[in-house]
Amino acid sequence: MCGIVGYVGSRPATPILLEGLHRLEYRGYDSAGLAVAARGRLKVTKAAVRVDELRDLVEENQPSPVGIAHTRWATHGEPTDANAHPHVDGAKRIAVVHNGIIENSGRLRERLAAQGVTFASETDTEALAHLIGAALADGAESLEDAVRATLREVNGAYGIVVLDAQNPGQLVVARNGSPIVLGIGDGEMFVASDVAALVRYTQRVVYLDDGELATITADDFVTSTLQAHRTAKTPTTVDLDDADYQLGSYANFMHKEIWEQPESVRRTLLGRLDERFGTARLGGINLDARALRAIRRVKFFGCGSAYYAGQLGANLVEEWARLPADAEPASELRYRNPVVEEDTLYVAISQSGETADTLAAVQELKRKGGQVIGMVNTVGSAIARECGSGTFLHAGPEVSVASTKAYTNMGVCFAMLALALGRVRDLSVSDGARIVAGLDSLPSLIVEVLGAENEISAVAKEHSGAERMFFIGRTRGWPVAREGAQKLKEISYVHAEAYQAGELKHGPLALIEPAMPSVVIVPDDELLAKNIGTIEQIKARGGPVIAVTNADLPDGLADSVIQVPRSEPELDPILFTIPLQVFAYHLAHHLGRDIDKPRNLAKSVTVE
Ligand code: AGP
Repeated sequence: MCGIVGYVGSRPATPILLEGLHRLEYRGYDSAGLAVAARGRLKVTKAAVRVDELRDLVEENQPSPVGIAHTRWATHGEPTDANAHPHVDGAKRIAVVHNGIIENSGRLRERLAAQGVTFASETDTEALAHLIGAALADGAESLEDAVRATLREVNGAYGIVVLDAQNPGQLVVARNGSPIVLGIGDGEMFVASDVAALVRYTQRVVYLDDGELATITADDFVTSTLQAHRTAKTPTTVDLDDADYQLGSYANFMHKEIWEQPESVRRTLLGRLDERFGTARLGGINLDARALRAIRRVKFFGCGSAYYAGQLGANLVEEWARLPADAEPASELRYRNPVVEEDTLYVAISQSGETADTLAAVQELKRKGGQVIGMVNTVGSAIARECGSGTFLHAGPEVSVASTKAYTNMGVCFAMLALALGRVRDLSVSDGARIVAGLDSLPSLIVEVLGAENEISAVAKEHSGAERMFFIGRTRGWPVAREGAQKLKEISYVHAEAYQAGELKHGPLALIEPAMPSVVIVPDDELLAKNIGTIEQIKARGGPVIAVTNADLPDGLADSVIQVPRSEPELDPILFTIPLQVFAYHLAHHLGRDIDKPRNLAKSVTVE
């Protein structure tokens, strides 16, 4: 969702900006643009086009060592050439790129219009450009002062980068609720909304905090607050490089990330399993045995797939620690004035670490004194920093909009949390050791699942004509069904709905017919007979059934069977989700969908 890139140094900025935008394409966008400054003038190129097309529009003879660029996801105003960023002031001196939403932009635009400003776009961002230009015209001492004065008038979320054609040796950046990271090069400085745009050039980065500004030049950066107090920032080194964002031999990132799962699960388990005591060590959560024992309830929260993963985590906490646990969408939690108990552990879940609703829920819970930890994939992200303690998922960068390896690592990290909570309570050492061994064998079991890709692809092809599908599961299978439906709908656009098996007869059974296939999750556990009964109910009404199972089902019971290897029963939900990722991927592929960039969706949802 919206991407920002900026450069100031000695090399031509344009190729670096275009390359940076290209790296951010995965976030989703509908228009793109860039601005460079040369000989005291701005040169702006922007349109409702893909980055490759923008490349064709940019004049080659604009060698400027400073510039800003943007991919836009429309919020205020349609995705048109005029609404694309950068936006400029009336004097065409100031160019601004902006992620986020300026909530009082209506009032600001009205005021500017009354002062005679003519707007070239319908955006909230353009108001910022005019205000900064006006502050400079009114005698602000520096671009930073002009930006600071403007931002003091602004309500809302922003990450911005500002270029002044008359002062092209610097850029001013600011952050409030939308990520901004500086990349420190050798005699050059980069800025972006996501490290993905930077790692090709540098691994040394500085994350701005909310309410912070920075002036960056080729050799230096100076940070301060909106109140003009200087802040001290220490650069960190990110453990990522450009190869993490390359497709290699894969056709798209979703496929690559599905196949990375054995390795990413191995990485997240590394050094965290304690075979001797049959438990897990999650150092980052900073809770010793006594503190773990003091927890009386666990609440997981996140959005979309992260929320579904939370449900899987809640089930594990209840099973192993016998603590009440549940999961809730962060988008609900933040607004419903939750009762916050001091002995509840709140677990914020996010791949990107930037999801606006999850971040807001963390802030609300903390404000009420809640004990919040983060289970986040992106190091340095807003949610990770806001939580202060927690566990990184270590899935590596996830580029495809559809989450796969991060989801799986969420499940694995929740299993380790539930194990640690269980082992300070009544979970026996032998059960603990069984679970540790089960977790340890997950990577090789995932390899086995992926080995059946061709068979799963054939099942997907067979059902690629369906316009809608049910995903049915109960208890442990319920989060699996929800995530399976989520994967299918987001990348194939097939209407997919998840239902608890026991609820079918209370309404949805009316929809069963030959044109409505059902994917039924059938673990070989104490509910096997019930799940077989569900399949029979569906078959009796003419509905095709795809069974996902690690049991030996009677021949002919289901129309198609996706066989999953056996693991520890409690870990089935982690393993069972993977063939559903493969199923959704191939079904979308058979339909010719743009798998990494599904329509209307963004990788990181930094606005409400
Ligand atoms: C996952 O496939 C989806 N694209 C989406 O539901 C995602 O999980 C959700 O937006 C939360 O994102 P986060 O994990 O980055 O917070």
